[in-house]
Amino acid sequence: MKKRYPRTLSSGANNTVIALNETEVGKLYTDDTRSDIGSEAEKMKFANTINSLIVKFLRLDELNDNTEMLVMERIYPMDFRAYEYEKRELWLEILEDELKELHKAGFVHRDLRRPSDVVGLKFDNVFLTNTGFRLIDVGISALKTQVGEKLFARYVTQELQEFEELRTFILER
Ligand SMILES: Nc1ncnc2c1ncn2[C@@H]1O[C@H](COP(=O)(O)OP(=O)(O)O)[C@@H](O)[C@H]1O
Ligand SMILES: [Mg+2]
Repeated sequence: MKKRYPRTLSSGANNTVIALNETEVGKLYTDDTRSDIGSEAEKMKFANTINSLIVKFLRLDELNDNTEMLVMERIYPMDFRAYEYEKRELWLEILEDELKELHKAGFVHRDLRRPSDVVGLKFDNVFLTNTGFRLIDVGISALKTQVGEKLFARYVTQELQEFEELRTFILER
């Protein structure tokens, strides 16, 4: 087994996320992580100015000499199966509105559903909390100002399809 950081919450395909305390987590970026901490932080901050769907960015920090850390709000997912169908429908409607609000503002998440060839939970970037759905992981999110109208429109179409799959997933169980 590979080396694990103390307080690891998850060590996925890309980044390790550790618990810092009860309210904060840190997403770790080491020299061998290809994703870019600065770009992820900027996208998260932008989405945070639009609404509260995306997990809240707190600060950039360092864990040690070769590990940087994106510190964000810690969220605790609940199991949707514990909640009535009507409640799930309502939460899904709010999620849809907030997602569309982000699209309108020029932000697309792009990672609601994991590609079928990647192992793990299918919708592991979607967290249900007692205030409704929240999204984590803006690693591959896109801003319209950066990718241009054409690509952005394609990503939005794709995202709305993934949202419909999520809706089916949540309501059919
Ligand atoms: N804000 C958070 N609160 C609680 N757990 C989190 C948070 N962000 C990430 N995690 C945990 O860490 C995992 C990996 O984080 P994520 O940002 O999705 O990285 P990756 O790019 O590796 O998928 C998540 O699936 C989740 O289990
Ligand atoms: Mg993820």
